[in-house]
Amino acid sequence: MEHPFGIDFGGTGIKGAPVDLAIGDFAHDRVRIDTPKPATPQAVAAVFKQIVGSFPDSTKPVGVTVPGIVRRGVVLSAANIDPSWIHQDADAIFTEALGREVHVVNDADAAGLAEAEYGAARGRRGQVLVITLGTGIGSAMIWDGELVPNTELGHLELDGAVAEVTTATSAREREGLSWEDWATRLTAYFRHVERLFTPDLFVVGGGVSKSWEKFGHLIEIDTEIIPAKLQNRAGIVGAALVAHRKAGLED
Ligand code: BGC
Repeated sequence: MEHPFGIDFGGTGIKGAPVDLAIGDFAHDRVRIDTPKPATPQAVAAVFKQIVGSFPDSTKPVGVTVPGIVRRGVVLSAANIDPSWIHQDADAIFTEALGREVHVVNDADAAGLAEAEYGAARGRRGQVLVITLGTGIGSAMIWDGELVPNTELGHLELDGAVAEVTTATSAREREGLSWEDWATRLTAYFRHVERLFTPDLFVVGGGVSKSWEKFGHLIEIDTEIIPAKLQNRAGIVGAALVAHRKAGLED
């Protein structure tokens, strides 16, 4: 059985695997290669080629996560990536480089879709906000299982600052914050988002979600809040799902 391929393009590593959509998990072990520096679209395309090339039997469409706004395959922001991505038609560049259909998707949107389909938000109706905490803060808004893309809730302004600059995992590490002090910032952030959107559920993703028991209970908000389930598989699984759904469709 042939599977769509997912690639997670991150700041330190680029990881990819064919994904079995029947179970929402890798069909084979993933391959990881260090992110090139600078990580221009052309440089990462070469790495994508190498990763996809490690699976010679794979011919299905490829989905790629990008940590920026993506509209119809064109990247429109680059808060934490090389500025050369802006206004690049990434779908076209990667489709040409890999010689097969490629669709790029915002990283948090990919993770959100994966959580809605296979993870913590599976079967949940109403509005679910999946918030990923990492170098930046990403968000995915899911309404009755459908994604509303490009919400960018990490860029909300909070106390005169861009929220992700003061509240992402990178801020905790940079400033050496205790879990308690970080949770105070997370509480202010989630309260703000809660007031604006009144979601039914928050799902918290990103690498730090595996340490949920250290900080999850310290976030004091009214809305139900739970950790993501797919953790570092969410990007690859979500990207493959997007590639599968978009395959052959013009958009
Ligand atoms: C970007 C988002 C991305 C998030 C997480 C933010 O800085 O603007 O597009 O989803 O970081 O990587």
